[in-house]
Amino acid sequence: MRLTLTIVLAVVAVSTSFAQQPAPQTAEQQFKNIQIFKGLPATQLEPAMAFISGSLGVQCSYCHVPNSFGKDDKPTKLTARRMIQMVFDLNKGSFKGQRAVSCFTCHRGKPTPVSVPAVGQNLWAPSPTSTPAAPLPSVKQILDRYVQALGGAKALTKVTTRSAKGSRIGADGVLVPEVVHQKAPDKILTVTSYPNVVFSNGFNGTVGWAHSSREGATPLPEQLLVQLKRDAVFYKELKTEELYTSLTVLGRASVRDADAYVIQATPVDGPVEKLFFDVGTGLLVRRYTETDTPLGKLPLQLDYENYRAVDGIKQPFLIHWSMPGRIWGRKVDEIKQNVPLDDAKFNPITTRP
Ligand code: HEC
Ligand code: HEC
Repeated sequence: MRLTLTIVLAVVAVSTSFAQQPAPQTAEQQFKNIQIFKGLPATQLEPAMAFISGSLGVQCSYCHVPNSFGKDDKPTKLTARRMIQMVFDLNKGSFKGQRAVSCFTCHRGKPTPVSVPAVGQNLWAPSPTSTPAAPLPSVKQILDRYVQALGGAKALTKVTTRSAKGSRIGADGVLVPEVVHQKAPDKILTVTSYPNVVFSNGFNGTVGWAHSSREGATPLPEQLLVQLKRDAVFYKELKTEELYTSLTVLGRASVRDADAYVIQATPVDGPVEKLFFDVGTGLLVRRYTETDTPLGKLPLQLDYENYRAVDGIKQPFLIHWSMPGRIWGRKVDEIKQNVPLDDAKFNPITTRP
């Protein structure tokens, strides 16, 4: 059983690799007791499970005996199987096969849905007259201001390597050492050292890969490779207009109690994103995406916090990833720039456990 919570997290947090990727397996080939998800690519089972957990607001153990995911000994798992079939049938029968209804449509983060409408709202009260919204800046104005807020294009291009030392903040709050090395134009290496296992992943400009000191090279699903490649772009702050095929200002929203401008961004590859820029500081404070799962769209949100200047360039010293039911992160303690980093450092690790 290679599926663990860590892998679910690593996957969404951009772990990845396709070094010697085997032919894609179906769920029933990789797992023991698949009855509904037959034919589904095995890599999509984990996101589907994360979607279910987040929709019901429960942990995996609500339906599974720990480490025996194939067993059917919890009645909730049997109910869930019926529910998955019901959702498929509903969408097929009433919504032209679109994924209009999902677990969340009814469950709203609770195992037992509420079917009685709430009191406390008066739809007949006259609505307050709203003040007209202030005009919005253009995409170019927001992006130019962002580059300026970071320290300016000149300062940014003076940096060619960056090493950030700090910790991964687990969903359980436990910190483990993590280092991220980057080199212009497109190399990245992340090493996360748990007490019993070290996870690494990287992109060397050509190959994306992931490695575990326990399992050796681990496979890298396509969508994660896309994400890893994007993370590897060293001067991405200067290349927003190259990395996205379309950019539109949607309006304003509140991010951690501050006002932000929202840009909808369609990347060259991968799902549509929303980028949030703080109205006051001009800095990027949030990125939000939704990825497809067999049951519906699974949101992932990245929050960039604690910006501090290093060599005249602002960097976030705290990053949080959130998906339904789970928050984890990265805390940076120290950033060093323009330190020599050998190209070979970013190549796939091939050692076997
Ligand atoms: C609400 C119930 C429910 C929750 C919560 C849930 N699962 Fe599942 N899980 C299922 C059902 C139902 C199946 C069987 C699907 C099928 O028959 O195709 C399944 C199957 C699996 C399998 C395949 C096991 C095998 O060998 O056949 C794995 C692995 C798994 N789940 C992992 C997880 C993980 C990890 C989590 C937490 C992130 C989780 N599940 C949360 C209901 C649930
Ligand atoms: C159309 C509404 C609807 C949708 C969609 C829906 N459910 Fe449910 N679900 C219910 C209702 C209603 C109950 C409570 C039934 C009862 O109390 O007897 C329930 C109960 C459950 C339970 C049992 C809870 C318990 O503690 O006994 C599980 C597990 C569950 N649903 C899983 C899912 C999963 C997984 C999905 C998505 C694949 C899903 N449901 C989609 C309406 C829905």
